Amino acid sequence: MTRTVVITGATSGIGRATAGAFAARGDRLVLAARSPTTLAEVREECRAAGAEVLDVPTDVTGDGELAKLADAAIERFGGIDVWVHTAAVMAYGRFEEIPERVFEHVVRTDLLASAAAARVALRHFRATGGGTLILTGSVLGHITAPYMSGYVASKWGLQGLARSLQQEARDTSGIHISIVSPGSVDTPVYQQAANYLGRIGRPPLPITTSQRVARAVVDCADRPRREVSVGRLNMVMRIGFTVLPGVYDVLVGPLMRLAGLTGRPVAPHDGVVFTPNPAGEAVRGGWLPDLGQLVRAVGELPGSVGTAVRRRLR
Ligand SMILES: NC(=O)c1ccc[n+]([C@@H]2O[C@H](COP(=O)([O-])OP(=O)(O)OC[C@H]3O[C@@H](n4cnc5c(N)ncnc54)[C@H](OP(=O)(O)O)[C@@H]3O)[C@@H](O)[C@H]2O)c1
Repeated sequence: MTRTVVITGATSGIGRATAGAFAARGDRLVLAARSPTTLAEVREECRAAGAEVLDVPTDVTGDGELAKLADAAIERFGGIDVWVHTAAVMAYGRFEEIPERVFEHVVRTDLLASAAAARVALRHFRATGGGTLILTGSVLGHITAPYMSGYVASKWGLQGLARSLQQEARDTSGIHISIVSPGSVDTPVYQQAANYLGRIGRPPLPITTSQRVARAVVDCADRPRREVSVGRLNMVMRIGFTVLPGVYDVLVGPLMRLAGLTGRPVAPHDGVVFTPNPAGEAVRGGWLPDLGQLVRAVGELPGSVGTAVRRRLR
């Protein structure tokens, strides 16, 4: 069955990979993010895969923007079956060194806009008899790490919100609410983040791909579950955080500095918290080797060796 799927955060990382995954299934897509140019690019990628696509430039923190997004989807496709909310931003820094306006906008984007999206989606689902809402959490909604306080607070808030909404929706069999919680994913979110720490962040190992998370999202749309965790060490970290909090707190700072930050210095900046950076948007963040490129390079190897040998023999 072809579904109408709204995806926020569709221009980069997990949201963009999710758009590709639903497009490959032939679903109708309504894509949203702030950058209209990248959104148009993603629209064309998804149309090339055979999907019907509407792109609606949207700032999820703007007054009434999510309602307008829903209206546009309903006007074009007659309703919404699945709403996937992935839009988010991050800010690195010690809590007291991150400007208040940056901290507050991270919470506005990551928590309050998720709530606003849920409100719009659930009102529509209640009026039409059902639908599936998929929120994007994080392993950082279950554990904590230093220097990312706004993001961590938002993801913990989102966990609580998702569970409350799931409990409220138990009275309507057609409404499903899932939260997909990844560990480290190879996306540009780390470079795009605001930074008041002086060192660029990175995803700690093990890192998974946006496409892997996208598959989990599509799977949730097919077979809704309360929560889906994507990441091999998520459960280990959660057990360590819960069972040995003292040990966890001793280790997490040094581990964060070792595995969660690069050595690359950076001057204080707001990243994409208030305005998008289309040049930095992509499915991949460049933290994992590009296997496609590797395979192409290996495929081109015989030709390159042949050319080199011919040159030598001349
Ligand atoms: N990457 C990871 O390791 C990881 C791990 C766990 C959870 N997650 C979660 O996965 C989700 C996607 O993250 P990602 O890593 O794919 O990030 P990303 O590559 O930086 O993509 C973020 C997306 O959100 C959009 N966005 C940001 N602010 C917005 C706003 N105000 N209005 C509308 N759209 C906005 C961005 O587009 P514009 O800037 O054009 O608006 C972009 O499309 C987030 O919820 C994140 O917390 C990521």
